[in-house]
Amino acid sequence: ISRKGSTLVREIHEKQSMNKSRQRFWELAGSKLGDILGVEKTAEQIDADTAEVGEEGEIDYKEEAKFSQHLKKGEAVSDFAKSKTIAEQRQYLPIFSVREELLQVVRENQVVVVVGETGSGKTTQLTQFLHEDGYTIGGIVGCTQPRRVAAMSVAKRVSEEMDTDLGDKVGYAIRFEDVTGPSTIIKYMTDGVLLRETLKDADLDKYRVIVMDEAHERSLNTDVLFGILKKVVARRRDFKLIVTSATLDAQKFSNFFGSVPIFHIPGRTFPVNTLWSKTPVEDYVEGARMEQMMSSSNKVVPKLLILPIYSQLPADLQAKIFEKAEDGARKCIVATNIAETSLTVDGIFYVIDSGYGKMKVYNPRMGMDALQVFPVSRAAANQRAGRAGRTGPGTCYRLYTESAFLNEMLPSPVPEIQRTNLGNVVLLLKSLKVENLLDFDFMDPPPQDNILNSLYQLWVLGALNNAGGLTDLGWKMVEFPLDPTLAKMLLMGEQLGCLEEVLTIVSMLSVPSVFFRPKDRAEESDAARERFFVPESDHLTLYNVYQQWKQHDYRGDWCNDHFLHVKGLRKAREVRSQLLDILKTLKIPITSCWPDTDIVRTAICSAYFHNAARLKGVGEYVNCRNGMPCHLHPSSALYGMGCTPEYVVYHELILTTKEYMQCATAVEPQWLAELGPMFFSVKDSDKSLLEHKKRQKQEKTAMEEEMENLKKVQTEVERER
Ligand code: CDP
Ligand code: MG
Repeated sequence: ISRKGSTLVREIHEKQSMNKSRQRFWELAGSKLGDILGVEKTAEQIDADTAEVGEEGEIDYKEEAKFSQHLKKGEAVSDFAKSKTIAEQRQYLPIFSVREELLQVVRENQVVVVVGETGSGKTTQLTQFLHEDGYTIGGIVGCTQPRRVAAMSVAKRVSEEMDTDLGDKVGYAIRFEDVTGPSTIIKYMTDGVLLRETLKDADLDKYRVIVMDEAHERSLNTDVLFGILKKVVARRRDFKLIVTSATLDAQKFSNFFGSVPIFHIPGRTFPVNTLWSKTPVEDYVEGARMEQMMSSSNKVVPKLLILPIYSQLPADLQAKIFEKAEDGARKCIVATNIAETSLTVDGIFYVIDSGYGKMKVYNPRMGMDALQVFPVSRAAANQRAGRAGRTGPGTCYRLYTESAFLNEMLPSPVPEIQRTNLGNVVLLLKSLKVENLLDFDFMDPPPQDNILNSLYQLWVLGALNNAGGLTDLGWKMVEFPLDPTLAKMLLMGEQLGCLEEVLTIVSMLSVPSVFFRPKDRAEESDAARERFFVPESDHLTLYNVYQQWKQHDYRGDWCNDHFLHVKGLRKAREVRSQLLDILKTLKIPITSCWPDTDIVRTAICSAYFHNAARLKGVGEYVNCRNGMPCHLHPSSALYGMGCTPEYVVYHELILTTKEYMQCATAVEPQWLAELGPMFFSVKDSDKSLLEHKKRQKQEKTAMEEEMENLKKVQTEVERER
């Protein structure tokens, strides 16, 4: 893994033209990965591993003495919160002191960039100010968030501040969940939701103002929205756009929209004392095991609540981090980078920064997402440190050296658009009639390789024709808020007469894993999971789970008995009903092929034939197209077949400790040849294999030529301008 990890890292590096010392640092990050992750972790487990803050190195702990002093301050803050009504609390936020000036700038300009420290009140107050200034008369104030958790929690907070029910005047919308109503005037939503809304209404007529929040995060959808909203601004004089950022890359945003004003909210933060590790920290996980350390020490220590926070954590557990601790107890929040900017918890006086974060990085050549640990950027590190100085002077322990910070870390993070699979975005832009993707107004264009590869993938799936335009299938695929492969599976279900079955499978694949595996009851839960196995398919296993749950009246206690996450299943049911609605609108009838599971497997094969793998040893496979090794996950139902099948297709390949296939299904080689003729034929003699390679190369060259031509046209157009 270390070698692979660092190759991946290096690729991104080359794109960013990094210097050698940085490269070494990133390599180091890659090589540590194996040790950090241990063995046999599923992606879900890894997601669930909250930030792995680490070992102390040689940090000077004299600072510790100051702790009790801070603790008292923490109580004072909470008392403050208790003594003020929620409406009064609003007036103490930094943004409140500049309310009038801010509104004046918004009145005078169509686009404004607002910069302010995290916690200054941008997310919760801006929308309310706009409402109070009349922008919700005959329109909605929308506010986008890169993260679902933030959209939900902020909407809840604002509904409380405005004393209205959530979903009434204030609501939120995330994929597959719309908590808004006819009287909603302030709507928080993920950037993905707004992006999809532009498909139905290119001018976003129902919105008077859009606040693009957390723009500094540079999420994929936010970056695409930038280009789209720029056009809306030009077309609609009555429309206003506010872009907010916690950091100082505001100038870039301002330039993008034509040097629009930047409004600074004066900061009200306290100094944060930064302590560096004197030597590089070897293993940052060990040091985080705080519980062991405390229980093995003989000192009597005040009660410490250890609260994790990460995006996949159920909402009720997430809420715990905001609750006040009982008197005398301290809170220790163990967080992923979600707490860097998206969530603000008051009363934090100490930050321990591992210097790492997890990032999903797409490798177009391998067609694989890798969830990897990367060093964070300097901007992110400063943001993390700042969390300790919100309610009083604080301390930040950095588990890396000052020299690493200055010489090895990137100044700001690589935007998602440059490190992700663009399939969805390309499909969306195509449907928005953006014919030439190289012509689209990206703030930072994605690598051309990624665009080309995504175009190619969509063509392989049959969503694009040879001229790069959307096919009928492609147009239908756009209707579904799903990744292109899942949309394809659904629509093949229509063609093959097994829509009922694939609908459930697609819904189950759209939620986090429903299998519950508590550490202390691992064997018991594994046995429970095995009882659901359909030996030839993990996809059909998911279907089986759902069907059985349905037969038991969708009961929660039944889930508990069978080690299943009831919340996940309920979510899958919601997703299913929403997809059903879309199918109804498209007038697609629901068909079933039960009990002929071969048909279902054919539909599955049609969506994933580009992810086909051939058996090499027990549980060991190689990708049919590029020979890359991929492994059956230990939890796969396919082990139940006794000897594992000759050919499989998989949902996705995720690099953790090994390249694991997530969710695999056995397929017949003939199906691959039928459904993926551009890759496979039945007679795989050396000669025909060569021919295939040749043909594949020709197709790719043709595609590249096309892109070249488009680029030439673009340059000419620019020259004429
Ligand atoms: O967006 P920005 O970081 O500038 O600040 P904000 O999210 O609007 O937060 C302003 C204040 O509201 C903070 O002091 C939070 O403590 C509080 N808040 C909260 O109590 N609950 C939330 N879900 C969100 C914010
Ligand atoms: Mg915010």
